[in-house]
Amino acid sequence: LYPGPIKVGGVRLKNHLLLAAGILGTTGASLARVLANGAGGVVTKSIGPGPNPGHPGPCLVVVDGGIINAMGLPNPSAAFADELAVLAGEPVIVSIFGGTPEEFRTVAGWFSGKASGFELNLSCPHAAGYGAAIGSDPALVEECTKAVTALGVPTWVKLTPNVADIGGIGAAAERGGADAVVAVNTVKAMRISTALRRPVLGNRFGGLSGKAIFPIAVRCVYDLYEACSIPVIGCGGVSTADNIVEMMMAGASAVEIGSAVVDDIGIFSTIANDLYSHDGIDAREIVGCAHG
Ligand code: DOR
Repeated sequence: LYPGPIKVGGVRLKNHLLLAAGILGTTGASLARVLANGAGGVVTKSIGPGPNPGHPGPCLVVVDGGIINAMGLPNPSAAFADELAVLAGEPVIVSIFGGTPEEFRTVAGWFSGKASGFELNLSCPHAAGYGAAIGSDPALVEECTKAVTALGVPTWVKLTPNVADIGGIGAAAERGGADAVVAVNTVKAMRISTALRRPVLGNRFGGLSGKAIFPIAVRCVYDLYEACSIPVIGCGGVSTADNIVEMMMAGASAVEIGSAVVDDIGIFSTIANDLYSHDGIDAREIVGCAHG
């Protein structure tokens, strides 16, 4: 059953499916194309405190069941605001990163009034001083979240699976005033070229996304649903309507899709059709139903 527009973590979405950060999120035109293809909302590429070209190449390697990337958070910084002009009124969540609470606050300030919400990237596994370096420390997670939630814009916090206790990190984001937690960013990974006898990626290691990480994401969503009282948004290796149902049963109120969009931008309409005509499944009733 199609539930009509829904509200998750303070943001109005057209349906339960969102574009995950980092994929097709660098221009207003590509984000508009994803919305036109049936996404209920979109998350931008992460924007930081200064323009950044990213890591040296190779930045991407395709592996069984997924992709390992080490893009290195490339972004145009404040200039990205121009891209949002064509998306006025649409459910657009701006992903932001910084190295300190003050930097998070500064970057968020550039986009407040221009975004439906923020997603704080506290979870990139391969950016020294950013991402998971902050997102694995509960005190820093709480501080960075507080710095942004003070602006009064709905704020989601995206978490790393590369920690022992993701529930404890989610609880810290909730104490900081987060409106939702998003689980997960990529899983720290690497490949080595046996011919060249050295790591494939320029940065040596990177983050694994795609089908291979789906069970990890389900476990993280399940843990967060137990640890937090704010909504959990699932992300990681989703490629079918049944994956969405499973994520929701683990506790997800909405679900982001990333790697699968690379192969097929039509996936949002395909999955939404399957999901909302799924026999015996009412998306409004299954969230967290796998908990005892
Ligand atoms: O896997 C990732 N790659 N996660 C991020 O948060 C950032 C991205 C990049 O730009 O390297």
